Amino acid sequence: MAVERTLSILKPDALQQGVIGKILTKLEEAGLKPVAMKMMHLTRPEAEGFYAVHKERPFFKSLVEYMTSGPVIVQVLEGENAVAKNREVMGATDPAKAAEGTIRKLFAKSIEANSAHGSDSAENARNEIAWFFAQTDLVRYDWKKR
Ligand code: CMP
Repeated sequence: MAVERTLSILKPDALQQGVIGKILTKLEEAGLKPVAMKMMHLTRPEAEGFYAVHKERPFFKSLVEYMTSGPVIVQVLEGENAVAKNREVMGATDPAKAAEGTIRKLFAKSIEANSAHGSDSAENARNEIAWFFAQTDLVRYDWKKR
C-alpha cells in the first residue's frame, strides 16, 4: 500500500473539550502525519458546501448548525493506507457503536458531535482536500527517514 492522504477535521466538540493534543497523539501513533493544518471557524456556506452530499438527510440542518458552532481544525493526514487508518482510529460514526480506545469512543458526545471527520474513500479524500487546501499548502516528508 502506497503512502496516501486523507482529510481530517477535528470538530467543535473536540476543541471545546481541549483534547486536540490527545487526538493528534492517537493519529501520530497510528503512523499518520499532518502535512497541512489550519484552524477555522466554518461559515454556513462552507459547512453546507462541504457536507453537500448529506443535504437531503434529516440531520443536515442540525449538522451545519453544529459544525459552525465553534472553531475546528482542518488537516491533511499522510501515511500508509491513510484513509482507512484514519477511519479505524476515529471509530464508528456513532460513538455508542465505536470500538474501545477509538477517538469517538473516548471523546464524542453524540452521533452528530462526534469529534472528528475523515474522508471515506481515496477519491473523496482528493475532493475534500481540494475543498480546503491548495497543493502548495501541503508540506513534504521523507518517509524513508524515521
Ligand atoms: P462525519 O464523518 O463528519 O460525516 C457526516 C456527519 O454527519 C457525521 O460525521 C456526523 O457528524 C453527522 N451525522 C451522521 N449521521 C447522523 C445522524 N443520524 N444524526 C445526526 N448527525 C449525523
